[in-house]
Amino acid sequence: MTGKFITFEGGEGTGKSTQARLLASHLEQSGMQVVLTREPGGAPGAEVIRDLLVNGEPDRWSPMAEALLFNAARVEHWRQCIEPALKSGTHVVCDRFADSTMAYQGYVGGLTREAMAQLHWLALGDARPDLTLILDMPAEAGLERAANRREGENRFELKGEAFHAKLREAFLDIARRESNRCVVIDAARAMDQVHSEVLTAVHTRLGI
Ligand code: TYD
Repeated sequence: MTGKFITFEGGEGTGKSTQARLLASHLEQSGMQVVLTREPGGAPGAEVIRDLLVNGEPDRWSPMAEALLFNAARVEHWRQCIEPALKSGTHVVCDRFADSTMAYQGYVGGLTREAMAQLHWLALGDARPDLTLILDMPAEAGLERAANRREGENRFELKGEAFHAKLREAFLDIARRESNRCVVIDAARAMDQVHSEVLTAVHTRLGI
């Protein structure tokens, strides 16, 4: 039996990483095999590319160069980590995946949905998550959380509030278009409330 592929998406500071970790531990404690991973990264070559993407000046890359780099990292991540795990029956929980490229480089970066879809097709064919949890909250609140959290690796956080407000709308539009795969979760609430809504969505949609 193949494992389920579950992704978390959303803007900066929405709590994706925490929720991905909580979900992975919950599934593990229920006796399932789970890999917890994140993008960009998750494979040796992809980590090298990550470094190019998350550091440096906000305008370091054009949207298309960025989209190509994220896809290059994703090919390595998919081939070396995600696909083998799923084939062996292990569930994969991933912090960000292709919807981030569609939202950041596509909707907000000004590249078309078609271009992003074509790139995805070339890189990964019809590979896609079984379930995507979109963590949603007002952009200002998310940015505030992200700013309190860490230093460094903040190239995308530096892009300003209008960028992040557009991003929120982008994820909501993706969720509307692909409602079979996506569930929007109100992430402005307490961590344990968000976690229990995540578990409900996973159970209802995937039966695990
Ligand atoms: P990361 O430190 O993982 O941010 P976060 O904790 O918010 O997930 O950095 C990844 C950054 O790269 C993040 O700002 C979103 C951006 N990104 C894209 O623009 N396109 C993509 O395809 C992916 C995967 C991430």
